[in-house]
Amino acid sequence: MIALTSTSIAWVLLVFVTAGFIVYAVLNSRSAKDELGSEIELAANRKEYLDDEALEGPRLERVQLLGVLLLVIVVIGLPLYWVFEPARQAGAIEAQEELFVEWGSRLFAPTAEGGFNCAGCHGGYAGAGGEAAWNVTDSTTGEVTAVNWKAPALNTIFYRFDEDEVRFILVYGRPFSPMSPWGVKGGGPMNDQQIDTLISYLHSIQIPREECGIGEDDPLSCPSGHLPSKIQNDIETRAWQLVNEGTYDSYGEALFNLDLNSGAYSCARCHTPGWSWGDPGVTGQGAFGWNLTGGKANVAFPDEEDMVAFIKNGSNYGAKYGVQGQGSGRMPGFGSLLTDEQLRAVVEYVRGL
Ligand code: HEC
Ligand code: HEC
Repeated sequence: MIALTSTSIAWVLLVFVTAGFIVYAVLNSRSAKDELGSEIELAANRKEYLDDEALEGPRLERVQLLGVLLLVIVVIGLPLYWVFEPARQAGAIEAQEELFVEWGSRLFAPTAEGGFNCAGCHGGYAGAGGEAAWNVTDSTTGEVTAVNWKAPALNTIFYRFDEDEVRFILVYGRPFSPMSPWGVKGGGPMNDQQIDTLISYLHSIQIPREECGIGEDDPLSCPSGHLPSKIQNDIETRAWQLVNEGTYDSYGEALFNLDLNSGAYSCARCHTPGWSWGDPGVTGQGAFGWNLTGGKANVAFPDEEDMVAFIKNGSNYGAKYGVQGQGSGRMPGFGSLLTDEQLRAVVEYVRGL
């Protein structure tokens, strides 16, 4: 807005100055023409100059006035520029970000609208979670089965992963699943710029966080915020419902297998083979995520609190976890999705697998 104002002022000034020059040029050439025919007293290219009286009188004053005017322009113009410039830059950054989001949304769009169909699999432009038709080949029998593979909600993706981790997923995909690699490095069609714009779009569709910390004024990215209480309530209600229906034996088990938003908050979609296409094998036996059964996770985390902390923060690329674990950044953090109580319930369940 402010940036626009200063642009308008600049335009008005430009128009005035240009008009002034044109007027000056016209008047000047007119008075030059009057000179014609006076060669007898004076050469054509000479004209009689002003006498001292005129030079030191009104003419001097006019030039002085002009000097003062220029000074005023400089004195007012420079500070004005200084005042408006930061706002102009901020406006430019904001406009650029909006442009990125707009470009990203075009890539995100369903195939029918010319996009790469993220929306088609992940539950529309809002990325609320969906599913994708896929063929699973049994590695022993070679049998091919048509399935629907859950595509987790993306409107909470930055609750689970940081930007670099999301970039990795987008570039390399989940090559064993319908989620294909999209970046050139992973063998996909998109260049770095397109991946960046997609990430901007994903930022724009995040469900705003609640209870951000001091100084964290962007509810889309504040690190200490958590899911809105309505969604937290949904998670709790759904988990207890699954327990009460007898689907699962404990609150922790229900959370491990939570089916909301295509498993966006669950563990099973990565740690239980077949869970994502509705044909789960042994719970926690390992798929994309490690095998957690037979007390394996307890070997990695002899201390329960360490396991809670790990699941809260997720793994970070290259960082140590547990006794001898090294993270890849692919295990999401659940700290802003589940409450401490829920995390403890899940950990208790995992330790008993
Ligand atoms: C053909 C369907 C399909 C398309 C198209 C697709 N995805 Fe996916 N995507 C999936 C599935 C299925 C998964 C879950 C894979 C798994 O089980 O690990 C997934 C996983 C993801 C994840 C990781 C989510 C998580 O929490 O683990 C992200 C991020 C993602 N997709 C973003 C995108 C974006 C952005 C696009 C568009 C360029 C896209 N996807 C296109 C099906 C698709
Ligand atoms: C997006 C997939 C994904 C989801 C969802 C996921 N994990 Fe993981 N998990 C992984 C991966 C991958 C690893 C291996 C560590 C790494 O690569 O950083 C892992 C490692 C672990 C480990 C350490 C195992 C070991 O022996 O080193 C534990 C414990 C664990 N996950 C528990 C959980 C729990 C509990 C949940 C749900 C609250 C969960 N995971 C959800 C992918 C996932």
